[in-house]
Amino acid sequence: MPESPIRKLVPYSEQAKKKGINVLHLNIGQPDILPPENVIKKINNFQINEVQYSHSAGIELYRKGLSKYYQSISQDISHEDILVTTGGSEALSIILNCICDPGDEIIIPDPYYANYNGFSNASNIEIKAITCTIENQFKLPSTKEFEEKITDKTKAILICNPGNPTGALYSLPELKELAKIVKKYNLFLIADEVYREFIYDKCVHHSVLTLDDVIENVIIIDSVSKRYSMCGARIGCIVSRNKQIINTALKFSQARLSPPIFGQLAAIEALNTKKDYFNNVIKEYSKRRDILVEGLNKIPGIKCPMPKGAFYCIAELPVKNTELFCRWLLKEFHLDNTTIMLAPASGFYSPSNNVNNQVRIAYVLEVKKLKIAIEILKKGLEKYNN
Ligand SMILES: Cc1ncc(COP(=O)(O)O)c(C=O)c1O
Repeated sequence: MPESPIRKLVPYSEQAKKKGINVLHLNIGQPDILPPENVIKKINNFQINEVQYSHSAGIELYRKGLSKYYQSISQDISHEDILVTTGGSEALSIILNCICDPGDEIIIPDPYYANYNGFSNASNIEIKAITCTIENQFKLPSTKEFEEKITDKTKAILICNPGNPTGALYSLPELKELAKIVKKYNLFLIADEVYREFIYDKCVHHSVLTLDDVIENVIIIDSVSKRYSMCGARIGCIVSRNKQIINTALKFSQARLSPPIFGQLAAIEALNTKKDYFNNVIKEYSKRRDILVEGLNKIPGIKCPMPKGAFYCIAELPVKNTELFCRWLLKEFHLDNTTIMLAPASGFYSPSNNVNNQVRIAYVLEVKKLKIAIEILKKGLEKYNN
């Protein structure tokens, strides 16, 4: 199993904290934004007499509530097309196990969410990565590039839209191109849409659930973790109109018995969240993104394309090896007793891809702290490079 690139530097941050240094965490996608008030109120007032397993597919009331949420994207989604999981993480591992035998392959635009490596490694599934570049703003690869990777072992194309770690957002024409490929080669199209709500600059998110032509090939991975800042609830889901996929996934769900009950009860309440909550959260992320990306691009030698969604960006730094630099920031550097923790981007690229000069930055801190973080990075680079 590969180490998580996000957590790998944790011992260094712990040592820094033991020395009394304040560490600003830009390395992990754990939002500092509060969950909706109605959810917190619900959690604090749970009236529960028993703690039982739920149905393996999830509480029916929740699945029915979720189907209404998805009907705003595609009218035909029913609760029978949805399985509740222990986070998007379990949804991913169940789906990969449903569609692949050991030795099978899935194609993923590179860089990608690092845990895709973990889930595929655990099941002996091979990732065929297609490199996307910072120069090209991590645009989706061309049909030709996808076709070059397809073999008789290929089972699916997996995309993350909007993307972690890149913040890239795929357009409807791009998704339609993917639809043509999966139709032609009879593949699944798995879309990790856990950041669906976080789209900026008045852009629009297009879900693969709208690709009617290939709806039987489409599988959605979803989660409440980021949508409502409820990472610890551990609730996600699988959505697919393909009955065989849902039936197979249900067998895996039965083997693990049940998704968490408290998380589901909180997630049921989250469905009542008002639009205002999202408007405010998106405004806040958008402000942070602008400040971060503008600030980064002002630092000599840094290149950072403007992300269109999610809450991450990839920045190229003027150093040879960002892993060593990130470690140095934690071990040896601070400004007014504060330092920053970033995630070296190499861990988000497939192992054969030697990209060592980029970092992933999560803008999950308030503006005041982000500005301090930018200053620390600037001063840190000056010192490191002299
Ligand atoms: C792209 C992506 N997919 C899935 C997940 C899994 O999230 P969870 O298991 O908390 O739902 C994450 C978490 O960071 C993510 O970034």
